[in-house]
Amino acid sequence: MPPALHVCQQGFEAFLAKEAGACREKGPGWVMSASAATDLCFAHFSLPQPLELEGESVNILAGRIADYFLETSRGELYEAVWPLCFEAAGVESLNQRCRGVLKAFQEKTSRMARVMRLAEEGRPALGSWRGLFVYLTDFKRAFAARQAWGGGQRRMSDDPRAPSRSYLKVEEAYLVLREAPRPGDSVADLGAAPGGWSFSAAQRGARVLAVDNGPLKGGALDNPLIEHCPQDAYKFAPERTMDWLFCDMIDDPRKVLELLRRWVRRGWCRKFIVNLKFGRHDPFLLLREAASSQGGISSRCSVLRPRHLFHDREEITLVGMLKEGQGRGHGR
Ligand SMILES: C[S@@+](CC[C@H](N)C(=O)[O-])C[C@H]1O[C@@H](n2cnc3c(N)ncnc32)[C@H](O)[C@@H]1O
Repeated sequence: MPPALHVCQQGFEAFLAKEAGACREKGPGWVMSASAATDLCFAHFSLPQPLELEGESVNILAGRIADYFLETSRGELYEAVWPLCFEAAGVESLNQRCRGVLKAFQEKTSRMARVMRLAEEGRPALGSWRGLFVYLTDFKRAFAARQAWGGGQRRMSDDPRAPSRSYLKVEEAYLVLREAPRPGDSVADLGAAPGGWSFSAAQRGARVLAVDNGPLKGGALDNPLIEHCPQDAYKFAPERTMDWLFCDMIDDPRKVLELLRRWVRRGWCRKFIVNLKFGRHDPFLLLREAASSQGGISSRCSVLRPRHLFHDREEITLVGMLKEGQGRGHGR
C-alpha cells in the first residue's frame, strides 16, 4: 500500500510533491508520496494508505470497490451521515468514467440501503473523516481508502450579483476557517474593488469598509452595508478593532504579509482572510515566514491555515483567528 495519495488543483502537482515530500508518482491533480503528512497547503484532500484497485471495465472496478467497502464495513455501525467521495484525475472523459463507476458501485451496494442512505456525496470537509474515498488515476486504476483528511477546499457556486469571481475565493475560505462573517460584524476589506469579497460579507449582514482607489461594481455598488474608502490600504488604520480583515491586493506577497503582521501585532482584527499572490515567488518561503514564531503572526493566532484554494490560481490564502486578548488599544 502506498503511504498516501494527495489530491490538488491540476497544474500545481510540483508544489504539492515538494510539500508532501518523497514523491513516488504523480499525475494530473494527484501526488503519491511516501510521507503520510496531512494539513498540507496544496492538498485538497489526502488518503492515507489507499488500496490500489484495477478493473478492465466500469463494472469490474465498481465490483472491487464494493467488495472492499463491504469487507471493511463488517462490524461497523453506521448511525450518522458519512462522506462518499468519488473523484478522478484530469480529463472530462475520466470524470465521466468515475460517475459511471459510482453509479455501478451504488447498484452493487443497494442491499445496504440503510447505510447508503446515510452517505453524503462530495469532498471531505475540513478535518479527518471516515467514509469511502475513491480516486481514479486512469480508466482502469483507482485508489480507495476508508479514511481521509480534508483541507476544506471545494468548488463554490457563483452569485450573479457578485461583482467579481474573487467572490468564490472568500466564500471557500470561510469553509477553511469554519467561520463566516455574521450580522453586525465589522470588516475591513483591503484591495476591495470591484467588491466581490465586500459583497460576500454584506450578504451575511456585516458592515464593510471597502478600501481601494478603484471603483466598486455590481452588488457592492451603493450597498447600504458597504462604505467605499478610496485610499491606499497600506496607510489605512481602523478606528477600532475590526472583526475581520480581508485582503486581496495584487502586490508583492511579502509586502502583504508585512501588512498582515502589522494588523496582527496591533490587534486590529480578530479574524483574517488574506490572499498572497505568489506568482514567481517561492510559496514555501512565504509559508515559512507566516508560520515562523519570529514574525509575530503564528504566535498570536489560535488558528492559522494556509491553503491553495480550489478557486486560487498562483496564490495562496491564509485564514486565521487571533487568540483571545490579542487586541491592543482597540478593545471591544
Ligand atoms: C484582485 S483585485 C481585488 C478583488 C476583490 N477582492 C473582489 O472580490 O472583487 C485587487 C485590488 O487590489 C487593489 N490594490 C492594489 N494595491 C492597493 C493598495 N495599495 N491599496 C488599496 N488597494 C490596492 C487594486 O486596486 C485592485 O482593485
